[in-house]
Amino acid sequence: MIYVWFLTCFWFSLSSGQQYYDETLCSSGTNKPGTRYTCRASRNPCETFLVYRVNNESRTIARISSLFSIDSDILVSINHNVSASSQVLETGHEVLVPALCSCSGEFSQANFTYRVTENAALSEIACGVFEGLVKSITLAEENHLAENDNVVAGSLLRVPLRCACPDDLSGGDEVKFLVTYPFVEGDDTLKLGEKFNVSSEEIWKANHMDPTPTVYPNTTVLVPLKDKPFINFNIPVSDPPAPQFLPTMPVEKRAKFSQLKKLYIAASVIGFSLILAVLLACGLYIKALKKFKAENFHSSTHRVSSLHSCSTPRSCPFSGPPTRSSTNSCLSPDFLVGIKYSICNYSMEELIRATKNFSQDARISSSVYRGVIDNGEVMIKQMKVEGTRRVIDVHSKINHVNVVKLHGVCYGEDDFSWSYLVFELPSSGSLRDCLSASSAALHWLRRTQIAFDIATGLHYLHHSVVPAYTHLNISSKNVYLTSTWRAKVAVFEQECESSTSPRGTVATKEDIFAFGVILLELVSGREAVNGEMLSESMRFLRGGCNEGGCFDQLRKFVDPCLKDDYPLAEALCLAVLAGSCVEDDPLHRPSMDDVLKVLARMV
Ligand SMILES: *[C@@H]1O[C@H](CO)[C@@H](O)[C@H](O)[C@H]1NC(C)=O
Ligand SMILES: *[C@@H]1O[C@H](CO)[C@@H](O)[C@H](O)[C@H]1NC(C)=O
Ligand SMILES: *[C@@H]1O[C@H](CO)[C@@H](O)[C@H](O)[C@H]1NC(C)=O
Ligand SMILES: *[C@@H]1O[C@H](CO)[C@@H](O)[C@H](O)[C@H]1NC(C)=O
Ligand SMILES: *[C@@H]1O[C@H](CO)[C@@H](O)[C@H](O)[C@H]1NC(C)=O
Repeated sequence: MIYVWFLTCFWFSLSSGQQYYDETLCSSGTNKPGTRYTCRASRNPCETFLVYRVNNESRTIARISSLFSIDSDILVSINHNVSASSQVLETGHEVLVPALCSCSGEFSQANFTYRVTENAALSEIACGVFEGLVKSITLAEENHLAENDNVVAGSLLRVPLRCACPDDLSGGDEVKFLVTYPFVEGDDTLKLGEKFNVSSEEIWKANHMDPTPTVYPNTTVLVPLKDKPFINFNIPVSDPPAPQFLPTMPVEKRAKFSQLKKLYIAASVIGFSLILAVLLACGLYIKALKKFKAENFHSSTHRVSSLHSCSTPRSCPFSGPPTRSSTNSCLSPDFLVGIKYSICNYSMEELIRATKNFSQDARISSSVYRGVIDNGEVMIKQMKVEGTRRVIDVHSKINHVNVVKLHGVCYGEDDFSWSYLVFELPSSGSLRDCLSASSAALHWLRRTQIAFDIATGLHYLHHSVVPAYTHLNISSKNVYLTSTWRAKVAVFEQECESSTSPRGTVATKEDIFAFGVILLELVSGREAVNGEMLSESMRFLRGGCNEGGCFDQLRKFVDPCLKDDYPLAEALCLAVLAGSCVEDDPLHRPSMDDVLKVLARMV
């Protein structure tokens, strides 16, 4: 399967002229696909355009024309919004610069030279003077310098700016130009599409991007154009485009619901005693779920393929990869993209102040610190820059009351120093600490609510995020409680599985297992150090418990802090649910959908 995928990918990259998007900063010292655009076009060399923004050093066309050694009349004629080369433009105004793009070995580049005006680091020239149109590592390579070298005033640098030529393999509507565009803060591919009057899909395709990608300032992207570029300056920088609804298709009704409903009715009609009824309903329900799972496993491929057909271009033009959720809705993900997502950029000084210089007292775990910023408590997670980008990418796609929010980021100086992510810190701390404190605060109602909250958060990650997100690291230590004892799941690491891969199926089941362990901890209060202790305690549930004796065992299992202040039937139900979540065979474990349905009846 994977082999075939690789082949397909390879074939695509050869035939369709896609380039990669390099999401790393222009000052980062790594070469990645997209750091320079690969030269494989048949129409090489080609004329192209670069987008350059007016800055403090060059506020007129005259200055820009001398930087790029281009006749200023040409610049004036190309840029429809300027009338004279001496006109002072606002900083940030985008100017189209024509360039000749040619191959130099493996990569294509637009050759320019730059006479250094004052002693500077290469990164200042790459990211500052040339605004990320070239990465500092490329400047270093082209001029045979070390990346951290400073260049002295007066020296002449060769500057190979990023550019690409279109292939003419595609028939009909062929792309004539690939304009190099550097992103700025607040940009996204939708806005970029409007600016150049191209669809965002075409931009994603030309740059090997996933649908609705997260993009970063100081990185470049290629805009595929069928005609000479014309920038629409009337795209508001901060206002998101109006959300668009696409017609939703009716949600497929599944036999499962009515079947289960009948089960409930049957169970409640058998009216021996209340406890017996609850016990039956609970046990039967979970058994029914298991049975349903086993039967349904084979039909799941069918479900996925029917979702595929939903995302064919005609009926659902903007659909991303299909999710495994039961919905067949064609609601555009663009609708969500319209809701702006932004995070703060913190300085190292702020974090040092917040954590009292990363003191031991501020340490929550090996890589997580507690701090105070703007009178609010935050968690500060230390990680490598690559990791931060993945986590930011995930958080840009999720926003849920039961998931700990990401406030901001502080990038390290380079790829080798630490970067930090700043998260909200719910005020009651971690669930584990709260359970270990054996306080009376966590009474039964709160525990079921917490279970429900965690399940809601995980359900959201499994079923509402595209591509489906599996946490793979959930435990009572990274579930946090607010002042009102509502739970939030922390997503610190990126673990994302394709929703359709067989591995993906198993990955969500790993979350279900971990959730089962948390349920056991909620019932027993004890910590699942290596799972042994709890699985032993669970044995009484597996070994069939139809005698009254099992209630005695259950009472011993339940957290002594709860005294006798809890409904025994509910405790049993939670324990049975936990038991099914920690089944050895992943396929026998329920899904978060199923879990939620059980818990929703308790809170
Ligand atoms: C640009 O110059 C203006 C004043 O001319 C100044 O206020 C502003 O801070 C400068 N911006 C940068 C990025 O240097
Ligand atoms: C560009 O020109 C148009 C009219 O052609 C005008 O409405 C717009 O404000 C101008 N934009 C800038 C940034 O100068
Ligand atoms: C640009 O420079 C590279 C080497 O730095 C050279 O191979 C290439 O021919 C140059 N292209 C043009 C169009 O001058
Ligand atoms: C990003 O680019 C801007 C200029 O466009 C520059 O001032 C800034 O230093 C760059 N940031 C980094 C982290 O390179
Ligand atoms: C935008 O592109 C479409 C075709 O893709 C064209 O019909 C339309 O006139 C263009 N709009 C502008 C303002 O150039």
